[in-house]
Amino acid sequence: MWFHIRLLEKCNLSCSSCYASDHNRSQMLSFPEFKDVLETIKQIQKVDHKMSVIYLSGGEPLLHPQFFDFLEYCFAQFDRVSILTNGILVKKYINDLIPYKEKLCVQISLDGDEDTNDVIRGNGVYKKVLEALHLLQDNNLKHWVSYTVSQFNKHCYKSIIDIAKETNSFFNNVTPYIGNVDQMLDYYEWKEFKYNYEKYTRKLNIESAHGPNCCGFSYNCGAFSGGLTVNPDGSVAGCARINDVMGHYKDMAKFILQKSRSITETCMKEKWQDFSYFNTIRYLE
Ligand SMILES: C[S@@+](CC[C@H](N)C(=O)[O-])C[C@H]1O[C@@H](n2cnc3c(N)ncnc32)[C@H](O)[C@@H]1O
Repeated sequence: MWFHIRLLEKCNLSCSSCYASDHNRSQMLSFPEFKDVLETIKQIQKVDHKMSVIYLSGGEPLLHPQFFDFLEYCFAQFDRVSILTNGILVKKYINDLIPYKEKLCVQISLDGDEDTNDVIRGNGVYKKVLEALHLLQDNNLKHWVSYTVSQFNKHCYKSIIDIAKETNSFFNNVTPYIGNVDQMLDYYEWKEFKYNYEKYTRKLNIESAHGPNCCGFSYNCGAFSGGLTVNPDGSVAGCARINDVMGHYKDMAKFILQKSRSITETCMKEKWQDFSYFNTIRYLE
């Protein structure tokens, strides 16, 4: 399973698409709480914690004043650890990241070509992201690009795939934007996007490891069955994007589902409700 641990709400960007834009930005996990979260994960009987993946996220995880203590501690407990970052602080911390390169993966968000990305993520962000991706590549740190797809940036898939290829990104994490319904893709638009995206990866002869690995491509929702999210206030949710909070992290074992659901039952429920009427993954596939 994956455990998406949001260390803090604070961020150094204010992306227009962010699900956390109205969160209380002062919340953060303390080091003792973080240790306790990891201990709780290790005690979940039905989870093989050696196979589990820990995502350190936020807000912006690299802004947490004890981030490297967290990382060190996490590596002592788990073999598979990833940082989900906007990339802005990668240059500052690259030398601190290098010692972890054997096991660490770094996800960097990129939401379009330069103009499109910077409307969503802020002026000058695109250039910093590219610099970060090249730095990770030059230092042999495993990394991948994360692309959140909305009406506004759905046309940018080629540019993002090109960059993933150019910087030897491990894969692309392509997920649908969830939030303002006018910006979300409807079912046909998503189908078309998926088709075009896959066609272009085939054209560039990108290995499947670079391919989409996400709810939007499998139409399966991993929340509660594939993974859980721990928020900086200690609450536990399935998916950060819809913040489907169930309770406190201490009780996380109780919320794990045996079977995954279709995304028509979760994040895309409102937008794809006509399809949830037919309600089968088989129908969508
Ligand atoms: C909230 S950010 C936190 C980590 C880091 N600050 C970053 O920007 O990557 C984690 C990921 O969630 C995605 N995300 C944010 N808001 C979203 C939304 N409304 N729907 C889908 N994905 C979203 C971002 O694009 C990013 O890839």
